[in-house]
Amino acid sequence: MEPITAVVLGAGSRGEIYAGYALRHPEELKIVAVAEPRPDRLKQLADAHGIAPENRFSSWEDLLARPKMADAAFICTLDDMHAAPALKALEKGYHILLEKPMSNTEEECRAIEAAARKADRVMAVCHVLRYTPFYRTIKALVDAGEIGEVCAAAQIENVGYWHQAHSFVRGNWRSSRETSPMLLQKSCHDMDILLWLVGKDCRRVSSFGSLRHFSADNAPAGAPERCLDGCPHSETCPYYAPKIYLTGKTDWPVDVLTTDLTESGIRRALEEGPYGRCVYRCDNDVVDRQVVNLEFEGGAVASFVMTAFTADFSRQLKLLGTAGQIQADMGTKEIILHRFGEEVRQIPLLDDGEKSGHGGGDYGLVRDFLTVVREGGESRSSARASLQSHLICFAAERARLSHTVEELRL
Ligand SMILES: NC(=O)c1ccc[n+]([C@@H]2O[C@H](COP(=O)([O-])OP(=O)(O)OC[C@H]3O[C@@H](n4cnc5c(N)ncnc54)[C@H](O)[C@@H]3O)[C@@H](O)[C@H]2O)c1
Repeated sequence: MEPITAVVLGAGSRGEIYAGYALRHPEELKIVAVAEPRPDRLKQLADAHGIAPENRFSSWEDLLARPKMADAAFICTLDDMHAAPALKALEKGYHILLEKPMSNTEEECRAIEAAARKADRVMAVCHVLRYTPFYRTIKALVDAGEIGEVCAAAQIENVGYWHQAHSFVRGNWRSSRETSPMLLQKSCHDMDILLWLVGKDCRRVSSFGSLRHFSADNAPAGAPERCLDGCPHSETCPYYAPKIYLTGKTDWPVDVLTTDLTESGIRRALEEGPYGRCVYRCDNDVVDRQVVNLEFEGGAVASFVMTAFTADFSRQLKLLGTAGQIQADMGTKEIILHRFGEEVRQIPLLDDGEKSGHGGGDYGLVRDFLTVVREGGESRSSARASLQSHLICFAAERARLSHTVEELRL
């Protein structure tokens, strides 16, 4: 079997993870070209995959200006740079693995879905949760009718205090103007999973939420602009940057700061880069808490809470049907099924035997994508299947800002 070939657009965190599948499974996937403007990241990914010098590009535009070079394109640029490369790559005939959100505008999400439908190419949106053993096990219980008809769901996303600070206060997704509102960025996964489990279209959405904590008003007295500028609160502040980044670990999130992962390299990044800033003195505007309520066709309802203020970093779900309930914790990997009138059962996770990020979802997604490219069919997280979760996020954001209930226009 010849491996599927792919080009990577954006050799940041996600690009490196998906490309990493090729290093573990060279018989299934080969990375043949990469586009990335940061020279250190370009070299790191290209060297790891033995990519020829003429196949290293400094932008996706340059790579996609060439005749088609591979079977598939992995689009791993930031949120506002998804639609243009996705539409161009479809036009060139690539199958596409597209990072979420599909785009940060509703119009572009609809345009991508329409183009994918017309192009007769595989498009998988990176809704990694659908590929995790955890959610696949729950979906299998629902599909087998174990809880009857789903009536209600409650999911909580525990973002984790330091993860919020890393990504949504200091980092890439701190500004809804520059990237996306937090719900679209972080929780389109949750909207997608709720839709998948309920199995009905969403009809109405309401939402509340705000940014309250990570602002200048809450800066402790005397806190400087940067943690390393002699902050007097270094002992007590949980967000003091060295506590998060100078721990001896060099994998995510530390590898987001720099490719020089020596102690002095990381320290330099904290002195000069965005991740060393005081969390109360950043240019962030995305929420640090949000709730979304959903009503589905046929009357099922769901509520979702996302909060920065958690020690853990996981999701919990309660799924309630006419014949029973499922209580599940992605952190502890516990799934408890209680069919009414029967004994409570602990359900073992379906296991594909491969460990990867996002509870096994990262490589599960790539594996499924390669299978569909090879054998035909539609990805489990196709543009068609993924569009509605994005439409919910746009509607919820309008509802949050206007304090209204939004009807979903599908
Ligand atoms: N599926 C998930 O669970 C998940 C998790 C995290 C992030 N994401 C999404 O993945 C995407 C990438 O996130 P990331 O954490 O890898 O960010 P990142 O900043 O690490 O990577 C993005 C890369 O794109 C590069 N880039 C910028 N302009 C470019 C151009 N013209 N051509 C080619 N590359 C260019 C940047 O230099 C950067 O290296 C984002 O949209 C994010 O929302 C998805």
